[in-house]
Amino acid sequence: MDDLKAKYLGQIADAGDENALEAIRVAAVGKKGEVALKMRELGKMTPEERQVAGPALNALKDEINSALAAKKAALADAALDERLRTEWLDVTLPTRARRQGSIHPVSQATEELTAIFAELGFSVAEGPRIETDWHNFDALNIPGHHPARAEMDTFYMHRAEGDNRPPHVLRTHTSPVQIRSMELQGAPIRVICPGGVYRADYDQTHTPMFHQVEGLAIDKDISMANLKWVLEEFVKAFFEVDDVELRFRASHFPFTEPSAEVDIRCSWDNGQLKIGEGDDWMEILGSGMVHPKVIAAGGIDPEVYQGFAFGIGIDRLAMLKYGIPDLRAFFDSDLRWLRHYGFAALDMPNLHGGLSR
Ligand code: PHE
Repeated sequence: MDDLKAKYLGQIADAGDENALEAIRVAAVGKKGEVALKMRELGKMTPEERQVAGPALNALKDEINSALAAKKAALADAALDERLRTEWLDVTLPTRARRQGSIHPVSQATEELTAIFAELGFSVAEGPRIETDWHNFDALNIPGHHPARAEMDTFYMHRAEGDNRPPHVLRTHTSPVQIRSMELQGAPIRVICPGGVYRADYDQTHTPMFHQVEGLAIDKDISMANLKWVLEEFVKAFFEVDDVELRFRASHFPFTEPSAEVDIRCSWDNGQLKIGEGDDWMEILGSGMVHPKVIAAGGIDPEVYQGFAFGIGIDRLAMLKYGIPDLRAFFDSDLRWLRHYGFAALDMPNLHGGLSR
């Protein structure tokens, strides 16, 4: 019995992990372990021998069990110490900046102009980017043969084989939302319609997808003077200055009569874009008095109602306001660009708090 004790206590002391310990437990005090076998021999002993051997075997079993338990606890402690030694954290290190999204300049400019036009009494209307060619062209007094269709470098959607209806288009401007707004709400109307538009064009100031905001005001006594005032108020508020110089150029759009294009004074020195100074002009919008045919196409009586409309390039506005020289970078999804030109996510532009802090 002394041999058994020495053998197992020695093995327990040397056990390196819990698996080794379990193997020792099975061999020593398991149901078929050595101690159990010895217990079976008790039956062959005389009562006197049994009285000595029985308690001694029980004591041996207890001793081995408590040695196993103590070793198990010691192994667990050692494992914990090892984890604590390797899994440490230097709490004196500086924190890592949290990854934070930023607001794209186009979204920022859209929020800003929405806040400005809201103060001027305009609400926001929307329309689909995949548009019927009737809304995009015909209803805007651009019939099938009209050169404006070709000028706009339209993207046409495919129709299924044998389907001869006119194809849908990716809207080439936000003007179809004029028609949809008239259809939907009748007169009077004061809406702006911001959104993406598409034309096959690509250079420093043109991308195949860009953004416009349409404005539409329809009522019984609206004139070109109202248009001019609204645009000037808007441009001053947007650029957050008392004066910016605008140039109204007589122009032509099929859906307005008369029509004017509006440029803003700017300079492009060394690729640096500045507004309000310099000898360059950048076209930012087209506008005019809504053509009577367009008012009629929207389901409103042009004998009673008239109004103005304008379409402004939002990306152009953002380029000018934030001094961004290349439009193509707007849509590259380059994180470094976004970090540089992006805006804090929780600063919502409004006229009281400031537009572009
Ligand atoms: N839709 C015109 C364009 O995309 C802009 C415009 C809108 C002109 C409304 C006049 C009136 O160029």
